[in-house]
Amino acid sequence: MDIVIATKKHNKYAAIICDTIAESAKVRGTGIAKRTPEYIMTKLENQNAVIALDGDKFAGFCYIEAWDHGRFVANSGLIVHPDYRSLGLAKKIKKVIFDYSKKKFPDAKMFGITTGLAVLKINYELGYKPVTFSELTTDDAFWKGCQTCKNYDILTRTERKMCLCTGMLYDPNDKKVKEESEQKHPYNKRVLQRLKNIKESVFLKNKNK
Ligand SMILES: CC(C)(COP(=O)(O)OP(=O)(O)OC[C@H]1O[C@@H](n2cnc3c(N)ncnc32)[C@H](O)[C@@H]1OP(=O)(O)O)[C@@H](O)C(=O)NCCC(=O)NCCS
Repeated sequence: MDIVIATKKHNKYAAIICDTIAESAKVRGTGIAKRTPEYIMTKLENQNAVIALDGDKFAGFCYIEAWDHGRFVANSGLIVHPDYRSLGLAKKIKKVIFDYSKKKFPDAKMFGITTGLAVLKINYELGYKPVTFSELTTDDAFWKGCQTCKNYDILTRTERKMCLCTGMLYDPNDKKVKEESEQKHPYNKRVLQRLKNIKESVFLKNKNK
C-alpha cells in the first residue's frame, strides 16, 4: 500500500473518490457535505490531498482545506474504500495528512467536524480535543459546505452553535495540553458514543415534531 501526497497525475481517481464518499454516506444514512470530481481535482492539482493506492487500485483519500485566510486548516473528506476497511488504513492516512498539513500550514489551528466515531478516535489520538463550534472557524465558506447535509436545518436552528457533528480542534501552540490530556483522560469510546446518542435523541426528536 502506498500513501502519498496526491498530484494531478491522480486526477483519474477523482470520480471513484466522489462515488465512494457518496455511497458510504448513503449506507451510513448520515448527512455529508457533497464533493464534485472537479473540486477533488483542484485538491490533487494543488497537492492538498493524500491518496492511498494498492497498486493501481484506489484504497483511501483525505484532503486539506484552509479557512480564515489560513488561520484554520481542516483535513476533510476522509474515505477508505470498503475493501480496505478495518486494517488501520484511515489511521495511517490521517497521520500522513496531519503531519503534511502541519508542515504546509505551521501556524494554523487544525479542526474537523464529524459524526464518525472512528474519526473522533483517530483525531483524539493525534492530539485534537473536542470543542464547541464557537472555537472553530467563523469562515462562512466552511459552514456553507454543510448546506448539502441532510441535518443542515439543525445547524441553522441552533444558530451554528451545535449540530450532530462534534467539533475537534488541534492547536499547535497548545502542545502541553495534548500531553496532559493523554495522561489524565485516555480516549473513552463510551463517552463519545453517549454524546452522539444524546444529540441524536434531542435534535432528531425535535426535527420530527
Ligand atoms: C471511517 C473510515 C474512514 C474508517 O476507516 P478504516 O480504515 O476502517 O479505520 P481504521 O481501521 O484506521 O480504524 C481506526 C480506529 O477507528 C475504529 N473504527 C473503525 N471504524 C469504526 C466505526 N464504524 N465505529 C467505531 N470505531 C471504528 C477502529 O476500531 C480503530 O480503532 P483501534 O485503533 O482502537 O483499532 C471508513 O470506515 C470510511 O471510509 N467510512 C465512510 C466514510 C466516513 O465515515 N468518513 C468519515 C467522515 S468524517
